[in-house]
Amino acid sequence: MVSARPPVVTFVSRNAGKVPEVRAALRPFGVRVRWKRKEFTEPQAESLEEVVDEKLRSVGDVAGYVLVEDSGLFIPALKGFPGVYSAHFLDLWEFGPILELLQNRPRKAYFRAVAGLRKGRQSWKFVGEVHGTIARRPAGRHGFGYDPIFVPEGWDRTFGQAPVGEKDAVSHRARAMVQVGQFLEHRRP
Ligand code: IMP
Repeated sequence: MVSARPPVVTFVSRNAGKVPEVRAALRPFGVRVRWKRKEFTEPQAESLEEVVDEKLRSVGDVAGYVLVEDSGLFIPALKGFPGVYSAHFLDLWEFGPILELLQNRPRKAYFRAVAGLRKGRQSWKFVGEVHGTIARRPAGRHGFGYDPIFVPEGWDRTFGQAPVGEKDAVSHRARAMVQVGQFLEHRRP
């Protein structure tokens, strides 16, 4: 039986670009997303999971379901770089060094997102990935971060060139959030 009130989750993030994507992924499950802007002090961690665990620890004061997410771009030819350092790297260097380093290397890459959900003392994690390649040059103005240089498998354009909504059909974040939605759907009274 579906409860009368749609569940609300508080999405805690500093990244405004993630918010519409999280909302779009959870909407079909009747989940409303409230955004709480917060800059996390990111721990020195080797995996997105560790960062998410730390984020989950630091949102214990938020009532109800609270959602966090950590994500990054992983390039196997660069030993997974920029990975957990994706946000920092982009702030400092933009796309230049990556495009240069990949001139003579395989261009395969993937985005990975780890969503963390917490309610009281309980918490859960959900993972999503999308695989593709790094474009030879940036293209498109949609989305955020590395979207202008990422071409998902089976596409002939970057995430940055995709009209609103198309990225949501395949993205790492959408794939992680759909699992959050399915989870919440099953926990409803
Ligand atoms: P964080 O999860 O806030 O640490 O930041 C992840 C960083 O990875 C973002 O700031 C972007 O640089 C990059 N990133 C993660 N997901 C995406 C995406 O969907 N598109 C483009 N860049 C992304």
